[in-house]
Amino acid sequence: MTRIRDSGAERFVKELAQENEAFWAHHDARLDPDAPRDVLLSQIRYRMRQGVYNELRSVELIAAWIPWVPEREIRDLLPRQLEDEQRHYQLLRRRLKDLGEDPDAYEPLPEWEALFDWLVACRKRPTVEKLAMFQFAGETQSCEGFETLIRLAADLDPETAELYRTQILPDEYRHAAIGRQALLLLAESPERQRQAREACREMNLKVFQAYQAHRARADRGS
Ligand SMILES: [Fe+2]
Ligand SMILES: [Fe+2]
Repeated sequence: MTRIRDSGAERFVKELAQENEAFWAHHDARLDPDAPRDVLLSQIRYRMRQGVYNELRSVELIAAWIPWVPEREIRDLLPRQLEDEQRHYQLLRRRLKDLGEDPDAYEPLPEWEALFDWLVACRKRPTVEKLAMFQFAGETQSCEGFETLIRLAADLDPETAELYRTQILPDEYRHAAIGRQALLLLAESPERQRQAREACREMNLKVFQAYQAHRARADRGS
């Protein structure tokens, strides 16, 4: 019985990952790989500034969700994720300081604030939905985004590229795997699979809107 149920969830998780990937193939608006070097460097810096905020809000988000994840196998994985996000926050903040910036002077984009406020407010939703949103859809596509950033930053700012590659990306892959593990465990019925798919759709659209606003502001240089 278990084997049959597991293989259904496995097939579902694979399909959902492909659907999310297909969405993001045309929707990553954060960086422009063809931009001149100075523009690209300013886009990378802008992402780092916003990244400090996003890492800190991720800590708050995980803290808010932990009491609302009754499934012990999944809940037990979240404190380490919280610690990782706190470390990423500190690492990015320090890197910006080393580059001569004041990371605390950055005013976060309202669209990102709204996205995290919404995610925190989702804490009472079923675990299958929450983890589909943030860890499965969100963290998986953010790994893709970090891969691109690392590739593009390799000549422009090797030290920052190295920081992302060695200190942040491996953790983010582990966070995405928590999402996958949650779905394999919980998305075992058509109803739960529908909930997980809908949660990914909601999250992808909201993140895309935040990326569009982010890029528009980065390009204005504000
Ligand atoms: Fe992080
Ligand atoms: Fe993460």
